[in-house]
Amino acid sequence: MAFSREVREISSDVYWVGVRDWERKFFDKLVPLPEGTTYNAYLVQGEEKTALVDTVNPGFEEDLEEKVGQVMDPGELDYLIMNHAEPDHANGLSHMLSLAENPEILATKKGKDMALSLYDLPEEKFRVVEGGDTLDLGDKTLEFIDAPWLHWPETMFTYFREEGILFPSDFFGAHIATPKLYADEFREDVLKYAKDYFGEIMMPFRPRAAKALDKLEDYEINTIAPSHGVIYRNPEKILEAHRSWTSSEVEEKVLIPYISMWGSTAKMVKVLRETIAAEGVDAVPFEVSSQSLNSLAGELVDSAGIVFGTPTVLAGPHPQIIYIATLAKKLNPPTKYFGVVESHGWAGGAVRELSNLVEGTSGELLDPIEIKGSPEEEDLERVVGLGEKLVEKIK
Ligand code: FEO
Repeated sequence: MAFSREVREISSDVYWVGVRDWERKFFDKLVPLPEGTTYNAYLVQGEEKTALVDTVNPGFEEDLEEKVGQVMDPGELDYLIMNHAEPDHANGLSHMLSLAENPEILATKKGKDMALSLYDLPEEKFRVVEGGDTLDLGDKTLEFIDAPWLHWPETMFTYFREEGILFPSDFFGAHIATPKLYADEFREDVLKYAKDYFGEIMMPFRPRAAKALDKLEDYEINTIAPSHGVIYRNPEKILEAHRSWTSSEVEEKVLIPYISMWGSTAKMVKVLRETIAAEGVDAVPFEVSSQSLNSLAGELVDSAGIVFGTPTVLAGPHPQIIYIATLAKKLNPPTKYFGVVESHGWAGGAVRELSNLVEGTSGELLDPIEIKGSPEEEDLERVVGLGEKLVEKIK
């Protein structure tokens, strides 16, 4: 018996034809994917024309072909909509074009330029669309919504007017490969995954994301069907979460990324954590050598403060802290206060370098703490002072 892949009808004549990638461990060789991910593609079949919204990651082209083939002859496709040019959604365009003579590829002007530079596609197949343009499928209308820089410059959303279904590509995504298609079927609150994903991918573009959310206020949205993770058929919760994550609102929370070679930094972090927590403010330690980067990204989304804990090694911060601090800065979190606790054997250096890294953020750097050797009572008093100052400012 031939193996038949799963296809789901999410609305009348609208099909999920995406794939689950259980094996993928990293995205962009940067973001860990402990639960894998999905590459969601959607087939919208009108009375007269049919459109495929996005495609799939390299290696899954034949799965997509087989899935589309369960609904219709892939050779009869009329339109390929490219919301985003990144290979996990656009690489499959060539394969789909190899099956069918007719399809036009609909993309933004930037999308077309990027796709032509990334893939071997015929230029004449492209139709450039702008926000507000529509595509008539007969009894169904697709509208394109300008949504650039989420998270590449060429991105757009596609909106199925009659049913209020938004196809926002990466936006509203989550990296989870689950047999559950819908967020409300998922075994736990999907917002944790969505928040980690937002921190990793969308946070550097918060103003653009806020603008896109404002634009969506003009649309009646019944379902959000992103390109990664699950589908939201009651989207208010995920919309509200994104409104909060794109704002500069922060929680009463201090994130403490740290690493300790011989225990001195860990001792200071423990005292700092207890001081902050005793005042009712969340203190979230993140031991950089053992914890997963995706949870760091999620915590960055709404932490009021960040304190880096590091020894001085080779005249600077521990290399793993340099990496984390650099990444945290690039992800552009809304952090208001920064701190550093450092220990050294014979000479400091970590504080200077970390302070330079914090420069250029909109956050305030509180007086760093440097100690020599194992922390004495008076050193720990200074750590308590830092914790109290953070709490005072945050509350
Ligand atoms: Fe899922 Fe930016 O690609």
